[in-house]
Amino acid sequence: LPLTAEVIDDHLVVGGVDLVALAREQGTALYVYDEADLRDRMRRYRTAFGRVYPNSGVLYAGKAFMNKEVLRIAQQEGMELDVSGGGELACARAVGFPMNLVHMHGNNKTPAELREAIGAGVGIIVADSRIEVGRISQIAGELGVTQRIYMRITPGVEADTHEYIRTGCEDSKFGFTMQDDFAFRCVKDVMAFPHVKLAGFHCHIGSQIFSLNPFREAAQVMVGFLARVRDTYGLEVEELDLGGGLGVAYTAEDQPSSIEDFAQVVGGAVTEFCQRFELRPPRLLVEPGRSLVANAGITLYTVGIIKTLPDIRKYVAVDGGMSDNIRTALYHADYEPVIANKAGQPRMQIVTLCGKHCESGDVVALDMPLQQPDLGDVVAVLATGAYCHTMASNYNGQPRPAVVFVRDGQARVVTRRETYDDLMRRDL
Ligand code: LLP
Repeated sequence: LPLTAEVIDDHLVVGGVDLVALAREQGTALYVYDEADLRDRMRRYRTAFGRVYPNSGVLYAGKAFMNKEVLRIAQQEGMELDVSGGGELACARAVGFPMNLVHMHGNNKTPAELREAIGAGVGIIVADSRIEVGRISQIAGELGVTQRIYMRITPGVEADTHEYIRTGCEDSKFGFTMQDDFAFRCVKDVMAFPHVKLAGFHCHIGSQIFSLNPFREAAQVMVGFLARVRDTYGLEVEELDLGGGLGVAYTAEDQPSSIEDFAQVVGGAVTEFCQRFELRPPRLLVEPGRSLVANAGITLYTVGIIKTLPDIRKYVAVDGGMSDNIRTALYHADYEPVIANKAGQPRMQIVTLCGKHCESGDVVALDMPLQQPDLGDVVAVLATGAYCHTMASNYNGQPRPAVVFVRDGQARVVTRRETYDDLMRRDL
């Protein structure tokens, strides 16, 4: 549940706003975010890292949830920003996010995107390959600037998460591999490009990771790498970015590590290994996405159909589904549904919350407990704040839901619902 959630007269209330009334007023499906929760997690990240490792920064990984308002809030809360392409960069520019605090990611940024980023003056481009470093240097030269870059390294750390979101192992499309010392040898080539400055190194071992050990391992590998680069090439880089990946609780059974423990382990490991390798501690960056926004978000739906198959399953169909939340279909993710107008009642039924799309795999929550459902109930699906809105589609001509931020009893629409006209706007 988000930070400010409470149950009043059987209704789920977040940010002082009755979600049942909000659903009736705004229509469903609807993404709702607890603004206090968002801000609290951003502050906790900054405070926790500031304590263990003062020379640090926290980048918000915008791919988890992106619109103008979340970027304004991130800026107010002292976040830096990781964008994963030209579209996210355009959003950052539209709200005046300071470009020196923006890092651009991607394993195959197009030349046009690189030109946009370099032209806009982004602080860092995270280079994913040697081919890309050449492109960056050439474009920077044409624009008459020197672009600061990181090299993204694949540190060969295996994290226990879904294979689709595992990125740090050797067999990966991302980054410079460490196999055969390839990444290390490339450093020399990268240093020779005229219009780039190698400011640091980056790794990201994966996403939705509960154990902190892989982060410690990654810190060790990366600090060791930095020390070798200094010893061999005489280059002491200024920055080390260890990526995102801290997991969150989607259901009550999930036990992720806390933001504070994550900071303690990551900051502590970098300090420890810098001492061991006698390396001057670099500026440390992390780039969390999910752990900042997942738990702040709730999706509201209205129950339209209930179908009971005796001895098999009870299907509760809602007015959304895989178009606003693809994660269950794609990763077998678990979500907890709650009937917002019966929030104080026990969840005694096992149901499958399915969507309205033309696919059997269109499921939001598979065999999860729910209160006794009735037609017209408002169902709140919890912890949908990350990778739902940003991965939404218009499948079956479904307009994407509005996004509402709630705080202190006020609800603000920050992204309006799509219209049928929006769906046809690009058709000639
Ligand atoms: N930095 C880089 C370079 C990344 O690739 C990612 C996520 C992050 C940071 C943020 O990771 P987080 O803190 O959110 O775990 N669509 C999938 C997740 C894909 C993650 C992609 N990269 C999902 O819904 O689970």
